[in-house]
Formats: sequence, structure tokens, C-alpha cells
Amino acid sequence: MATGTTTGIAESLARVFPLGSRINERGRLEVGGCDTIELAREFGTPAYVVAEDDLRARARAFVEAGRAACAEADATAGPGELGHNAGRGSQLNVLFASKAFPCTAVLRTFAQEGLWCDVASGGEMHLALRAGFAPERLVLHGNAKSEAELRMALRHRVGLIVIDNLDEIGRLERTLAEGELADLPPQPVLVRATPNVRGDTHEKISTGQADSKFGFAMDQVGAAVERIRGIPGLALEGVHAHIGSQLFDLEPFRREVAQLAGLREFAQCAGLREFAQGGGPRGDGSVPGGFPTWDLGGGLGVAYAAHQHPPTIEHYVAALVEAAREGLGGYERLLIEPGRALAANAAVTLYTVQSVKRNVSTWVAVDGGMSDNLRPMLYGAVYEAHVADRPGGGTACVLAGKHCESGDVIVREALLDDPRQGDVIVTPATGAYGYAMANNYNGIPRPPVIFCKDGDARVVVRRESYEDLISRDVG
Ligand code: LLP
Repeated sequence: MATGTTTGIAESLARVFPLGSRINERGRLEVGGCDTIELAREFGTPAYVVAEDDLRARARAFVEAGRAACAEADATAGPGELGHNAGRGSQLNVLFASKAFPCTAVLRTFAQEGLWCDVASGGEMHLALRAGFAPERLVLHGNAKSEAELRMALRHRVGLIVIDNLDEIGRLERTLAEGELADLPPQPVLVRATPNVRGDTHEKISTGQADSKFGFAMDQVGAAVERIRGIPGLALEGVHAHIGSQLFDLEPFRREVAQLAGLREFAQCAGLREFAQGGGPRGDGSVPGGFPTWDLGGGLGVAYAAHQHPPTIEHYVAALVEAAREGLGGYERLLIEPGRALAANAAVTLYTVQSVKRNVSTWVAVDGGMSDNLRPMLYGAVYEAHVADRPGGGTACVLAGKHCESGDVIVREALLDDPRQGDVIVTPATGAYGYAMANNYNGIPRPPVIFCKDGDARVVVRRESYEDLISRDVG
């Protein structure tokens, strides 16, 4: 007997499930216009099911929020304060952090929506290029980029390389000296700063604190800028920071920008192109702003369960732009790098119940687990679960995976309505860092990705086969 309330499922459908999800006339959960039980029958389980319209809607929401916030900031900025951009005003570019869902169909969708792409390795760069992102829309990250990765980025002349450390500058300099690269125009770069801001999130995904493996300490940025300035093949555009992931409070983002404002002085010594091209120094010789480009990273949190209330995309973007207008002045463009907030709620995972047993708890074991969703294991992440044709709550159960570890639990406190062998279980909000961190533990083939739109479903990544598990063996 279900004890969950209608409000609970209604709220979950509105905020946790992909946009447009509903309970259909047969009482079953529907995603992208497709009945989840039919999907399980047709494509098998476990399966990642993505509502394509949801991905597009969130991309558009970010872009539109950026446009609106920049127009507002430009309108209220004093003369010369913003937008040294040949009178075009300031702009905000939205980069999809591809690590969240590095699947070609997802990347292609965001490329079509006009986003840029954050890549953190040669592999992600390869995927993004193959999916249709123009090289100039790629931003390469990484705290340990290899020479091969740097060479690949330089060859493609990606939009920006985000420099993390002094050793990397040396590697870039040496790589640039190679014959075929030496004649290309300078490569635009950012310096990654660690702003010494700690947001409220799991320590494994917090990056802005002083003792972080990412970026330059605030008092080392000046030296990095000087080094870069001495290398003709590099064109310093600005600064990057990323304070962490799954953040609900906007205050740490404002503190991040306030901290970065302290780095504006280094733009003056850097002799940036903007001040030659767009407006130049004021009559008194001072420069009107700081760096032309500030990349504020990603990190906006999402609702994994109906009781969680992250800020809206509009509030988040407006807060960043407002803080930038106040603190960073004179910039030309802001970049942001949402991953989770673009992808998490666009997808659900379907499982099939293999067994139900009762001891101290009621254990509902399904055909997936930590191989398709590592997040509960790694971060103690909380998810909801529903029986596909009896959604909306029930009795407390442990939704367990099929892997040989006691810790392989997908949802510790699932409320499921009388779960039985053969039931299809739906866990919403698995679009970010699910597929991305999937693995073959226990020899489990990774699930397919199914795109759904207006009631049509298509496989965009097929299920792995047992043969795939040995396809790289060479001896
Ligand atoms: N930019 C940079 C430089 C990043 O390191 C990240 C995430 C992002 C952007 C995107 O952050 P988002 O908007 O998605 O919060 N595997 C973890 C998340 C790790 C995030 C790593 N960096 C998880 O499953 O929660």
C-alpha cells in the first residue's frame, strides 16, 4: 500500500524528473513521451533514458539567462566599466562541462544549441570535436595535462587552454617551439586561480579551498602571468576558477568573484590585447578594467530528490553576472561551465528487480548498481526510486545493486510500493556523472543510452556486450 503522497510524486516529476515527465493513462512513469515499462521491454535494463527536449531546454535557459543578465549589467554599468568589445557589450558564454555526460549524442545536442565545451583531457577533446564542436569553442582543463594533450590542443587551436601550474607553462613553451606549431598565431590561454573559497559540498568535489590540487594559489598568479607574458606563442586572456560542484548556496560563488577581483591588477602588467584593440588605456594611463575574459567554472547544484531546492539557472547566472559587474569591471566576456545542471535531471535509469528479501530491512536487488552509478558509493549521494507503474512512494526498502560489495546500494532509504521480482524501477536525475563514471566491475556490460523525444525512442549508445569486455585483449 502506497504511503507516498500525490504531492510528493508531483513535486518529483516537476523538479527531479526530466521536463515533460508524467504518469500516463496506464499509471506508468513516462519520460520524453515514452512509457518506461515499454522502454525497459524494448531496450532491456539497466538503461539510461534521456529526454532530449530537457537537455535543449536547459541549454536554452542558460543561454537566455546569460543574455538577459548581461543586457541588464551593460545597462547599469558606468561608462567604460564593461564590454571593451567594440561597443557590443559584455557577453556570457555557456560551456558544457563534458565530463558530466561525455556521450556523443549529448555533446552534439549541446553543440547544436550553440554552447561551448569544457574538456579535461585529450579524450574529451576528441569526443567534443567528433560531436561537432568547433575547436575555437573548446576550453581545455586539467591539472596534469600531458605533452600530447597540449600538442593536440595547440594543433587544433582550441579556444582556450586553462593553465594550471608552472610546469605546464614550461611544457607549453617547449611544445610551441616544435616546427609545425611555431608559425601559428598565439594560443589564447587562461590562468587557473584557487580563490580560497570553500562551498558547502562533499570534500571530494570541493576545489576552491587553498589546499587544492587545482590551479595557482592567489599569491602565485602574478608570477604565472609574468611567465606567460614572456612567451610569444601564448596570448593571456584572463583567469579561471572553479570552486566545487553540487553547490546550493550562491554566496560562495559571490565570494569567488570577489576574490578574483583582487587579480585585476595583473591584467595591467600583462599588457593584454584588449587595451590595444578596444578603447585602450584611459587618458591618465590607467587601464579601465581587468582581464577581458573570466571563466567562473561550474558547480550549480541540482535536485536529486524532491525535498532539495537548488537555485534556479536564472538566479545563479544573474548572481554571477551581478558579482562580476561589481567586482571585475571592464571585462569582455564571462564563461561558465555547468555540467551537472545541464545534464543531471535530463535522464533516468531503468532497472529490473531481480529479488526481494526481508531480514532487518527489505532488500530490493536490481540488475545494475555501482557499475552504472558510482555516486552513492563515492559521495554518499542520495537518489529517489520509484516502481515504474506504481510511482509515488511506499514502504522503506534498500535498493541494492548486483555487485559483490555490501556498499553497492543505490538508494539506502527508497520508498517503493510493494516491489516484486520483475518490476521496473526508475531512478531519476542520473544524467550527470552516471554514464560518465560507469565501469565494468564484476564484468557487467555498461548500459545503453536511449534518447526519447515526443514518444519516439532511439538508441544513441548501444549496450556493451560480453565480447566488448574482451575486445581490447591482445595477448
Ligand atoms: N569546470 C571544472 C573546471 C570542473 O572541474 C567541473 C567539475 C565543472 C566545471 C563542472 O562542474 P558541475 O557544474 O558539474 O558541478 N564526479 C562528481 C563531480 C565531479 C566534478 C568535477 N569537476 C560527481 O559525481 O558529483
